[in-house]
Amino acid sequence: MAIDQGIGINTAALQAERERWVSASVYTQPIFADHAHGARITDVDGREFIDFVGGIGSLNCGHTPEAVVTAVQEQAARYMHQMYSVVQYEGYIEAVKRMVACHPGEGPFKGLLLNSGAEAVENAVKIARYATNRDAIICFDQGFHGRTLMGMSLTSKPMPYKKGMGPYATEIYRAPAPYLYRGITTDDALAGFRKVLKSQIDPSQVAAIILEPVQGEGGFVPMPAEFIRGVHEICQEHGILYISDEVQAGMGRTGTPSAIEHFGVSPDLATWAKSMGGGMPISGVTGRADLLDAVHPGGLGGTFCGNPVSCAAAIVAMDQVLDPAYQEQAKAFGDDLRARLDAIASRHEAVGDVRGLGAMLAIELVKDRDTKEPAAEEVGRIVTLARERGLILMGSGLYGNAIRVLVPMVATQEDLDEGFAILEESLADAFAGR
Ligand SMILES: Cc1ncc(COP(=O)(O)O)c(C=O)c1O
Repeated sequence: MAIDQGIGINTAALQAERERWVSASVYTQPIFADHAHGARITDVDGREFIDFVGGIGSLNCGHTPEAVVTAVQEQAARYMHQMYSVVQYEGYIEAVKRMVACHPGEGPFKGLLLNSGAEAVENAVKIARYATNRDAIICFDQGFHGRTLMGMSLTSKPMPYKKGMGPYATEIYRAPAPYLYRGITTDDALAGFRKVLKSQIDPSQVAAIILEPVQGEGGFVPMPAEFIRGVHEICQEHGILYISDEVQAGMGRTGTPSAIEHFGVSPDLATWAKSMGGGMPISGVTGRADLLDAVHPGGLGGTFCGNPVSCAAAIVAMDQVLDPAYQEQAKAFGDDLRARLDAIASRHEAVGDVRGLGAMLAIELVKDRDTKEPAAEEVGRIVTLARERGLILMGSGLYGNAIRVLVPMVATQEDLDEGFAILEESLADAFAGR
């Protein structure tokens, strides 16, 4: 089919083209990027936005970080693709070394590279099943693990991620997870997990559990330390592998390379993606060397997995994540974000909860602090109002009533002052006259 060329490059024209050509199933906001740097995006109409979403946690090191751009350009000029199973290259090994260095614990650990977070989850499940010769996987309420068949089956939010797209992958069991703001305590959740192992599946049939240390899509719900440790202990008791899904919370977002290391637990396997690539698509699985070596040669992999250009970007991004000075800065950045959100909460009744870990933070908005009725429509209004005022926001949470802050961690004080002022003003207006 001939493609019409020469459409006018402005938001209205592109939006019309988008509606004509791009599947309606892909959710989009009406913003078209022209160029971006740091925490700011300029659109095709020349409007500047402050970006509080950061590619949903993929841009911790900002838009177009110079060192990543240079590494990408240099690598693209040498070769762009090989397919690692056909011709190997040093970049793959160097990227795996750094990803393995992010895996907390004594080791020895190994890793392999993939393309997306969901693919990392798929592969972690395959490794766990193969290595244990068991089938069942236990996941948790509020969990999000991607959009592939296994990823969506493990995910706990039917709309928009699952509805109408079954049947789901089999041998998946779901246990409660703590959600302190909504009254689900660590004790409740641990009791629920134990009950799954009694009432639904025998522990000897469970290959692994998968858990995000801070639940991202579920509303930035940080798992209490006692829950993570309790689940880990139960897993160890029954030979069940612990998979930490670090796709959103890992790679320095909470200050440390992995989020689970805040809780002193070394997972058997971990999944990584998003900010690992400094803006380029790449993901991976790390874990105990005996597990990573269990699958027969050729059992895992894929055409573009560990693409050389993505590896070049990931090496630069992970060198930063592993740098103690960066970790210090990340911690200070997280403290600053939390202070700003706490200040907003102190001025607005609608903010029921401020939560998260490090710089992975969100506010949960409610119609009433006593009833905690979720304010999902208001969140939609805040996102729209903020966009009109030059701030990109995105909701999250099981009830769609949380606003996440995943602003690139290179944001300046000016970016933050301006961005939080717009957030607060939009919040006030969305709830005005209730
Ligand atoms: C915790 C977690 N796991 C897995 C995924 C899936 O990653 P991707 O969108 O790269 O497939 C996501 C994406 O948001 C995520 O937050």
